[in-house]
Amino acid sequence: MWFKSTWTCLLYGLLFGQKVSAIDLQVDDEQSIKDAASQSIYGMMTWYHGNETGQIPGGFPDKWWEGAALSLALLNYWHFTGDDTYNDELSEALQFQGGPNGDYWTSNYSSFLGNDDQMFWGLAAIQAAESKLPDVSDGHSWLSLAQGVFNDQKNRWDTSKCGGGLRWQAFVYQSGYTMKNSVSNGGFFQLAARLYRYTGDSEYKDWAEKVWDWSASSVLMNNKTWVIADSANMDDNCKSPGNIQWTYNYGVYLGGAAYMYNKTSDDKWLTAVNGLLKTSFKQFFLAQHGGAMEEVTCEPSEQCNDNEILFKGLFSWWLAYTALLVPSTYDTILPKLETSIQAAAKSCTGLGNNTCGVRWYQSKFDGMNGMEQQISASNIFSSYLVKYEHSGKGPVTSTTGGDSKSNPNAGAESETDKDTPKPITTGDKAGAGILTVVMIGGWAGLMSFMFIGG
Ligand SMILES: *[C@@H]1O[C@H](CO)[C@@H](O)[C@H](O)[C@H]1NC(C)=O
Ligand SMILES: *[C@@H]1O[C@H](CO)[C@@H](O)[C@H](O)[C@H]1NC(C)=O
Ligand SMILES: *[C@@H]1O[C@H](CO)[C@@H](O)[C@H](O)[C@H]1NC(C)=O
Ligand SMILES: *[C@@H]1O[C@H](CO)[C@@H](O)[C@H](O)[C@H]1NC(C)=O
Ligand SMILES: *[C@@H]1O[C@H](CO)[C@@H](O)[C@H](O)[C@H]1NC(C)=O
Repeated sequence: MWFKSTWTCLLYGLLFGQKVSAIDLQVDDEQSIKDAASQSIYGMMTWYHGNETGQIPGGFPDKWWEGAALSLALLNYWHFTGDDTYNDELSEALQFQGGPNGDYWTSNYSSFLGNDDQMFWGLAAIQAAESKLPDVSDGHSWLSLAQGVFNDQKNRWDTSKCGGGLRWQAFVYQSGYTMKNSVSNGGFFQLAARLYRYTGDSEYKDWAEKVWDWSASSVLMNNKTWVIADSANMDDNCKSPGNIQWTYNYGVYLGGAAYMYNKTSDDKWLTAVNGLLKTSFKQFFLAQHGGAMEEVTCEPSEQCNDNEILFKGLFSWWLAYTALLVPSTYDTILPKLETSIQAAAKSCTGLGNNTCGVRWYQSKFDGMNGMEQQISASNIFSSYLVKYEHSGKGPVTSTTGGDSKSNPNAGAESETDKDTPKPITTGDKAGAGILTVVMIGGWAGLMSFMFIGG
């Protein structure tokens, strides 16, 4: 992928004489930031064909969770810019992928489905409810879709090893079945926290506490240093963590803690929010690289795969929501977003039409274009607009204007009825869930897996 894109770039450079137009971004000019967000989201949508005849709404068959990442970017964009240009496509995609059971768990993708993939759709659904995207009259409500994901995942809580936790992948024949990882557990925690804040139902609170406490007691989360590991293998009862650092592992826990704090005002959550911010700032905003957000594990070596390119965008969105939900963090978060949008604007100068690259900190287009790059750039631009609403509206709840219909029993049908696993093909394995870390074989194993997968 890297090489292909580099060649594309060189070719265009030759053909069009390095024509480069820049996004004219001024951090104190709200409109210029909206324009940057609008350009990058437009670029993102040129990769989306789910609204065309014969295509599957929200469907990316080989990388299913990316439909959730795209939907989240559209929700973030709409929330912060007010531009609803893409809301029809958004609504259709979120509804269609919910599937007949309303829980984002469809047999089409059962050969590679992970708890994390499903969780991201669940977060998109709760975010639709929190943003007051109107429920579809003849479908599942946004809230019930999030509840459907929660109910499924609650039933998959696994106490066979490691004292609890969700497995990464959900089916015995998948390699991630024997791993417990941060994004699945942190994401489930965040979903429970957001359902609790939206509905006030204490079942969600109990689960949020349970997942959090288990995470803190496991090797995944260190609640003194606030370092978040990626994953642990069940073979040794989760004793040795895979410590590779990814922004989104911090983001799922950070975002969830911010929702819990906003709802409860409990200092436990404030301590967690501040601790996770401090550590993630240290890990992912490197002074020697100018201080812009950076996926440190893969960017310097130019090895990010499609999944990993999306993480910074997700993290941007969680930072913005944390600034909204825990107002005392606003002053430390905004400068980080600011440095990052300035760098991202310079990265979005490719192919003569403001195409975005992977590495914002390079402060120039780095030759790698793709939908994932557009998604992440749109998220950082949209998120910075928190500057213009931080004292105002945050995500709504059922008592502050949210009216998405509740169905506490959504989803959660017997999974064996729903899923007849298809035979696994090499292509399925390559698309497998969100590639976190391959612990056996360590870094070399990860790299070779990425090359096969990329
Ligand atoms: C930008 O230009 C490239 C190369 O011509 C093209 O493939 C791509 O679709 C364009 N993107 C947008 C958003 O116009
Ligand atoms: C699909 O959505 C895009 C906007 O992203 C729009 O330009 C296009 O006309 C739509 N196509 C159809 C067939 O509705
Ligand atoms: C599942 O696959 C079938 C056959 O390709 C397709 O018609 C359907 O829309 C897909 N469903 C989802 C939820 O992607
Ligand atoms: C850290 O986590 C452990 C294990 O869950 C817990 O006993 C301890 O109280 C936590 N410490 C803080 C400061 O929350
Ligand atoms: C919760 O979030 C809202 C919306 O941003 C904010 O106004 C309020 O102060 C927050 N509550 C707490 C306890 O921080």
